[in-house]
Amino acid sequence: MISAAIDRLVDVETAASPSGVSGYVAVDRVRKIFNPGGRHEVEAVAPTSFTVTSGEFVSLLGPSGCGKSTLLMMVAGLDRPSEGTVSVAGRPMTAPRADNGIMFQDPTLLPWKSALDNVLFPFRAMNQPVAPHIDRAKALLDAVGLAGFHNHKPRQLSGGMRQRVAICRALVFEPELLLMDEPFSALDAITRDEMNLVLMKMWEEHHRTAIFVTHSIREAVYLSDRVLVMSQRPGRVIADVKIPFARPRSLEIEESAEFNDICGYLRSKIQHRPV
Ligand SMILES: Nc1ncnc2c1ncn2[C@@H]1O[C@H](COP(=O)(O)OP(=O)(O)OP(=O)(O)O)[C@@H](O)[C@H]1O
Ligand SMILES: [Mg+2]
Repeated sequence: MISAAIDRLVDVETAASPSGVSGYVAVDRVRKIFNPGGRHEVEAVAPTSFTVTSGEFVSLLGPSGCGKSTLLMMVAGLDRPSEGTVSVAGRPMTAPRADNGIMFQDPTLLPWKSALDNVLFPFRAMNQPVAPHIDRAKALLDAVGLAGFHNHKPRQLSGGMRQRVAICRALVFEPELLLMDEPFSALDAITRDEMNLVLMKMWEEHHRTAIFVTHSIREAVYLSDRVLVMSQRPGRVIADVKIPFARPRSLEIEESAEFNDICGYLRSKIQHRPV
């Protein structure tokens, strides 16, 4: 049973072509071929276009290997498209920028440094003085529930706590754009719910633009203003679905019929390989 909510969903297959796009993040006919012309040539991303408005939280959802990480790397300027362009705030992304915050599945903290020093690490990496940022770094750690753990080393923290440190590190220099690649996929379901709440709270407070890659339909719906569904590899965006829930959102919305209808709709859009 499809509820009235589904009528409000937008499907890019029927929407007008978004080419010649403009937005805070503008991905315009981007394609990625690894090892072009070689024996191991792989088309990871087929020509695809989408935009993200300033302050929007958008998730990328799609089957394993469909090109989500590849697309995110190109938005981050960590990889170059074979064709097409990515621009952020009107400037082409040709190299990584210090004003992007990036989080990966593995929090990759420096094991010999404390939680606080890990949060401050981006400044050291950019050869900037750390002292003016210490109060903010401490406040961020307190806000994610790590008040008593500023001086703990990563090995003294749980997986969820390490991810909280990584969230603080990604937010410490107030990035305009936050890019996250399955940051919570290695966590158990309860910790993952907790991390979703933490991320939601931080995002609502700081209101950055965010692109979040996930395999989890529920996580995408809970967190996002829009969910983009990618096809199987070579991945391209095949559905662009607005998520209508007001903010702030509590975890209880996951129990509503509307939430489950949207999840069902997204599930129907995801192409699975035949088994
Ligand atoms: N550096 C690379 N060199 C060659 N091929 C690559 C490279 N990076 C990714 N690929 C290929 O591109 C395709 C897309 O990979 P990608 O990591 O973007 O998928 P994904 O959607 O993030 O998958 P997952 O959900 O499993 O993380 C895969 O076939 C992968 O083997
Ligand atoms: Mg990936």
